[in-house]
Amino acid sequence: MRDQIVAGNWKMNKDLNQATALVEEIQSLMMNPVEADKVIVAPPYTYLAQTAAKAAEVPGLFVAGQNCHQEMSGAYTGEISATILKSLGVDYVILGHSERREYFGESNQLLALKVKAALGQDLIPIFCCGEPLSIREAGEQQKYVNQQLTESLFQLEADDLRRLVIAYEPIWAIGTGRTASAEQAQQMHASIRKHLASKYGAEVANHLPILYGGSCKPSNAKEIFAGEDVDGGLIGGASLNANDFIAIANSL
Ligand code: 13P
Repeated sequence: MRDQIVAGNWKMNKDLNQATALVEEIQSLMMNPVEADKVIVAPPYTYLAQTAAKAAEVPGLFVAGQNCHQEMSGAYTGEISATILKSLGVDYVILGHSERREYFGESNQLLALKVKAALGQDLIPIFCCGEPLSIREAGEQQKYVNQQLTESLFQLEADDLRRLVIAYEPIWAIGTGRTASAEQAQQMHASIRKHLASKYGAEVANHLPILYGGSCKPSNAKEIFAGEDVDGGLIGGASLNANDFIAIANSL
């Protein structure tokens, strides 16, 4: 069976005190086992080391970076490398989030380099894909997402692709309160798996967890996660509240 995963992307939220409080609340709620096989938190870079130290005390709790540079080191002011993330005790890195694509100009080709960089340091990429509203309205969403997958991932060997987590986040559902329906999520997840299988075969494609992201909340998570190809969620706003986040982790 595939890992069932709930990951919280804190984005650029929480100051030091708030971040400490949030991870401590998550720690204490996870004293009771949760339904998700893995719970991942992605705080801002500045709290990664302390969050990773706390996560190491809790079975099933892991830490992700929100991005990394494609180079391992060098004169890239303000950037962070996969090597640095790994040295902080981080296990995962979110790559290709639509906010990185839109506000920081990350292309499918650049993301191919970042995915390779992360895997080279033994970080597991949580690779994000998803279409804007105009593409959904034109009915072109599967083609659009397939192209993201092809251009960023299809250079990988099967053994490397197997290590990934995919997150489908329709842009029109991020932070808008408008979620994809359970049916729309399942359809797209099945389509992603089919596309991966077309190159890597069904065994590899069936191994990859595919998470849904976009206005996921305790009130809708169970329904969305019910889809057979939906293996959990990548949570934004609701991951900033420990009770809500763990309620989502218990919706699997
Ligand atoms: P929301 O859950 O706030 O819609 O954000 C989803 C997201 O972008 C997670 O990466």
